[in-house]
Amino acid sequence: MNVDGRENVFPKDFAWGAATAAYQIEGGWDADGKSPSIWDTFCHGKGVVFQDQNGDVACNSYKLWQEDLRCIQQLGLTHYRLSLSWSRLLPDGTTRHINQKGVSYYNKVINDLLASNVTPMVTLYHFDLPQVLQDQGGWKWAGIADVFAGYAAFCFETFGDRVKLWVTLNEPYVCAKLGHEDGLFAPGLRDPGVSAYLAGHNMLRAHARAWHGYDALFRPRQKGLVSLALNSDWAEPRDPGSPQEVAATERYMAFTFGWFASPVFMTGDYPATMRSRIEARSLELGFPADRLPGFAEGEPRVLGTADFFALNYYTSRRVKAVSCPSGALSFKGDQEAEGVVDPSWPVSGVPWLAVVPDGLRKLLNYIKDTCHNPSIYITENGFAQMGPVDLEDSQRCGFYRDTLLEVSKAIHEDGVDVRGYFAWSLLDNFEWADGFSVRFGLFHVDRAHPELTRTIYHSGRNYAKIILRNACPS
Ligand code: NOJ
Repeated sequence: MNVDGRENVFPKDFAWGAATAAYQIEGGWDADGKSPSIWDTFCHGKGVVFQDQNGDVACNSYKLWQEDLRCIQQLGLTHYRLSLSWSRLLPDGTTRHINQKGVSYYNKVINDLLASNVTPMVTLYHFDLPQVLQDQGGWKWAGIADVFAGYAAFCFETFGDRVKLWVTLNEPYVCAKLGHEDGLFAPGLRDPGVSAYLAGHNMLRAHARAWHGYDALFRPRQKGLVSLALNSDWAEPRDPGSPQEVAATERYMAFTFGWFASPVFMTGDYPATMRSRIEARSLELGFPADRLPGFAEGEPRVLGTADFFALNYYTSRRVKAVSCPSGALSFKGDQEAEGVVDPSWPVSGVPWLAVVPDGLRKLLNYIKDTCHNPSIYITENGFAQMGPVDLEDSQRCGFYRDTLLEVSKAIHEDGVDVRGYFAWSLLDNFEWADGFSVRFGLFHVDRAHPELTRTIYHSGRNYAKIILRNACPS
C-alpha cells in the first residue's frame, strides 16, 4: 500500500521492536547471586574472544536499565525483545533454588515496559546455559530437556501474567553448530559431525516440552504465544543453470533452515535430504547412522509446537557444491555445500554480512510456502559497523529503509503474514566471539565513558520516524 505514492504503510498493530540478549547487555555476571553461564566460562578462558573481551560488564544493563528504557522510549518502540538469564534466575539451573534478586530485576524490566506501553517479547534462552548444567553434559545430555521445561514453566508462572510473547530458544542452529561443531561459541566443543546434531536434537526436545507445558497449563489463563527463533540465510545457487548447484542449494537450506523448521513446522522430522546424506556418509565412513537422532515414540510431539514463526534474518548466500573427501566426519561433509558472498552484493562492516534486503522477501515467501503460511515475526535483523564509530551511519540507514521496503512488499504484494519487525539491536553490545569490535546498535554505547553513555545513531532517529508513521519511505 502506498500513501501518495511515497510511503509504504505497514498494517495497523504492526509490532515495531528492537532486540537484545542478556549476556550481550546485562553485565553483572556474578552480581546478587547469579551463577556463571557457559559464556562466562568461555570468555574467561584465553584466546577465544576478540582481545579476550567478555560480558562481565557489557552495557551494564543490570544496573542501567533505566537508560535502556529511555532509549526504547526515544525510538517509540511498540515491542522490546529481551532474554532472561537462566543462571540469574535459577543459579543451580533448577527450581530448587530461586534467586529473588534476579526475579525482581526482570519484574522491574517487564513492569516498566508495560507502564511505557511497550509489549515485551521474552526469550528464555539466548546462548547462556548455566555452567552447572554444562557440567552435567549441557545440550548433549538428554536430561536437559526436562530441566529446560522446568525453567520455562517457572518463567511462565512468574512472568506470564504480563508476558504474552515467548521465544523458548534463540537460534538453535548457531548454538548447536558454532558451540559443538566449530568451537567458536560456548561451550567451545569441536566435535565435528556428531555433537551438533545431538545438541540440536535435545534443544528441539526441550523446546517441545516447554511449548506443551505452556499449552496445557498456562495458555488457558495467560493466553500467550510461544515459538522458537530460527536463523536462516536465504540461499540461491551460484549458477542457477547448474543442477549440482541447485541440489547443493537444497542441501544448504535443508541443513540450515530445515534442520529446525522441518521438525517444528513441516513434518515432525528432519529434512529427508539431511537424513539421507547423513546416513550415506555414515555408511561410507563406517560410523553409526544415528548421529542424527530419531524422534522417539512416546516423547512429546515436536510438530506444531510453535504459535508463530520467529525469524532471525541477516544475509544471503550463493551456494556451490563441495565435497569433503577426507575420512573425517563433519557437518560440511554431510551438507556438501558451501555458501559464498556474491561479489556484487554490498557488505556491511563485517565480511560475512552481505547486505541483501530482497533475500528477506524471498525467505519470507519460502516460509509462507513451506511452513503452512504461519504468522511471522522478524525477531532479528540488523547491520554491523566495525572500525571507527560513525554516528551518521548512512549505510545502515539505507539498509533499514531497503529492508523494510522488502518486508512491506512481502506483506502487501505477496500476502505474507508478517506481524512485526525487531531491529538487532537496541544497543551496541557484546557480539560474542567478536567482542565489542562489531556494533549492531541503534544506540552507540561509549565504552570509554564510566557511565557507558548511550547515544542515538542516525539510523536510530530514522527508525523512530518509520515507527511514528508506521510507514517507510520508498
Ligand atoms: C543473532 C544472535 O541472536 C545475536 O545474539 C547476535 O548478536 C546477532 N545474530 C548478530 O550476529
